[in-house]
Amino acid sequence: MDSPFVSSGSFEDEGQKLKACEENLRRYHQLALAGRLVGATMHEVNNRLAALTNLIFLARSSGQSQPQSTEYLDEADLQLRSLAEITTRSLTFIRVDAESKEVDLVDLATSALKLHREQIAKKRINVQTRSSDVARACVNKGEIFQVLTNLLLNSLDAVPHSGNLHVRVAIRSLNAIITVADNGSGIPRSIQNTLFDSFKSNKSEGNGLGLWIVREIVQGHGGAIRYRTSNRQNKSGTVFRIVLPIQRAS
Ligand SMILES: Nc1ncnc2c1ncn2[C@@H]1O[C@H](COP(=O)(O)OP(=O)(O)O)[C@@H](O)[C@H]1O
Ligand SMILES: [Mg+2]
Repeated sequence: MDSPFVSSGSFEDEGQKLKACEENLRRYHQLALAGRLVGATMHEVNNRLAALTNLIFLARSSGQSQPQSTEYLDEADLQLRSLAEITTRSLTFIRVDAESKEVDLVDLATSALKLHREQIAKKRINVQTRSSDVARACVNKGEIFQVLTNLLLNSLDAVPHSGNLHVRVAIRSLNAIITVADNGSGIPRSIQNTLFDSFKSNKSEGNGLGLWIVREIVQGHGGAIRYRTSNRQNKSGTVFRIVLPIQRAS
């Protein structure tokens, strides 16, 4: 008598079908994320383009007043830089190259800090780094640089004038641990539950994409991100801790 159950061959077929479905779902999920990212980016780009048009109009119509038009042009320059940052961030995120190479994460953290040296100097932020000499891990360099940059930018926004910023990179057995800590305002309670969701920001100029991208990249590396934060007066601050496997599972 024929078995009412499918033969082992059919099981394999079913298994393959299931795998194909899962792969399709994963792709749709990626596409949906990319779509949301494009939408958010366009929104940000449009806002800044509108600001630029206004500023150029004001600079033009300020007539003979040199200081006034310089002020408008300085602001226009800031808006342009911010536009460049937004497009670079989006392009890096959606770029196709997903190659991983061995990278020294201490070097990478040093470069990320260098990138923000003007902002650090302007706010007179006290930066402390406590890292091993080298911390090699097989990662996508551009993506992990983006992770570091996004975390640093958030800390730089949050710390007061003369605040403290700690950046540490270390290897612990098979993982690289990156820690970015600050004594800033702490993450507002109202957004803590949805912190890593896209478009959650409490900054007038923010887009709430930074931490969402950070988590996507870290998870894409098979890693994990955690944070601790405090809003207590005189004891406020935030620590982000990222754990990345030093070898990427293929
Ligand atoms: N180090 C930090 N200190 C205080 N608040 C933070 C910190 N990092 C993130 N946040 C909060 O999380 C929100 C989301 O961050 P993010 O996703 O990078 O978006 P954005 O910086 O554009 O607002 C920020 O608006 C801020 O309120
Ligand atoms: Mg941010």
